[in-house]
Amino acid sequence: MNAWFETVAEAQRRAKKRLPKSVYGALIAGSERGQTIGENERAFTELGFAPHAAGPIGERDQSTTVLGQHLSMPVLISPTGVQAVHPDGEVAVARAAANRGIAMGLSSFASKPVEEVVAANPATFFQLYWCGGKDEISERMARAKAAGAVGLILTLDWSFSHGRDWGSPQIPEKLDLKTMLSFAPQTLARPRWLATYVKSGRIPDLTAPNMAVGGGAAPGFFGAYGQWMGTPAPDWDDVAWICEQWGGPVMLKGVIRVDDAHRAVDAGVAAISVSNHGGNNLDGTPAAIRALPVIADAVGHEIEVLLDGGIRRGSDVVKAVALGARAVMIGRAYLWGLAANGQAGVENVLDILRGGIDSALLGLRKTKVTDLDRSDIVVPDGFERALGVPENPAITRPATASA
Ligand SMILES: Cc1cc2nc3c(=O)[nH]c(=O)nc-3n(C[C@H](O)[C@H](O)[C@H](O)COP(=O)(O)O)c2cc1C
Repeated sequence: MNAWFETVAEAQRRAKKRLPKSVYGALIAGSERGQTIGENERAFTELGFAPHAAGPIGERDQSTTVLGQHLSMPVLISPTGVQAVHPDGEVAVARAAANRGIAMGLSSFASKPVEEVVAANPATFFQLYWCGGKDEISERMARAKAAGAVGLILTLDWSFSHGRDWGSPQIPEKLDLKTMLSFAPQTLARPRWLATYVKSGRIPDLTAPNMAVGGGAAPGFFGAYGQWMGTPAPDWDDVAWICEQWGGPVMLKGVIRVDDAHRAVDAGVAAISVSNHGGNNLDGTPAAIRALPVIADAVGHEIEVLLDGGIRRGSDVVKAVALGARAVMIGRAYLWGLAANGQAGVENVLDILRGGIDSALLGLRKTKVTDLDRSDIVVPDGFERALGVPENPAITRPATASA
């Protein structure tokens, strides 16, 4: 079979065939009835384009900057704490991102240490959860900074909801011999995945090395998760504290309301990502793309506004940028690429997005990605969601942007 794939949907099909059932299930994630995860993708299908039939256009330029980092296209790797997809894990993703000129977001719950990931891609943003006491949080930030991370992504939108109507994947606490044997029917049915691990001489150790503190060993994924669950939720003063402690650019990921966007600005963040955690958090939260336009209007002149959730093709990137995002972050798309073909699979996904962005720019007769605006997009009435706007706390308002 040709290792190259044509679309992100094909990468997903290959990931499903290649990964053990529980690993693929963890990567799909989602929560409750899966309303939000489905909505994130569906909402993009409601948006259309208003292309030109002819007209001059120069060489297309997709470049932009985010948190001071130059990006060859308006796409970043969103942090994902997922294990056992590929032995090279986030290092392979970081290399692919570096080869394609984009930045890497590294999760606190990642399987690879921040030092190795920054070595693979100097444009790395370290993602932090509010987990443990302030001393531990400071220590994790200091480690990431010392490793050379050039920005911090603070993710606070998590509500520990895990029931899934389609069933949650079975993930072991650690992989000892007994557990490996119990997973044998799944893993033996996936010989190519198994062969990649055998070749690497490693088995997934299911630890979170970036959560270690006090010079201790990397905690197990679930040990770290338990600590996070037991940590009282932060408030806006804590967000301001993080910004001070980090002393560099901070992005707050998971903003979906306008009032929160204003508070994030007040707390001192340099960027936000309009996001619902890829539909893994509070099910019933609207698609991120629906909440984007009103948030971009409200704070886009003060801070950088990004979006993540549901990006599967270059045209999705263009729609988000035209509706006010400076750039987008991708999660599942690159994880599927990684599962399908390692580093080359992630590069394949990034090339698919780049090609799709280029086609859309050509059709819209826009030379630069930064020239995109709402006149390029067809937005149906009622598409937008204005959450937490003072004049209308009742959640919805009619669409204002249409072409
Ligand atoms: C398996 C999985 C693990 C994730 N882990 C994290 C994480 O550790 N930290 C974080 O900020 N976001 C995490 N996310 C959310 C992603 O960063 C991103 O918001 C989301 O995947 C975007 O939606 P998309 O997958 O449709 O692109 C995770 C998402 C997935 C699918």
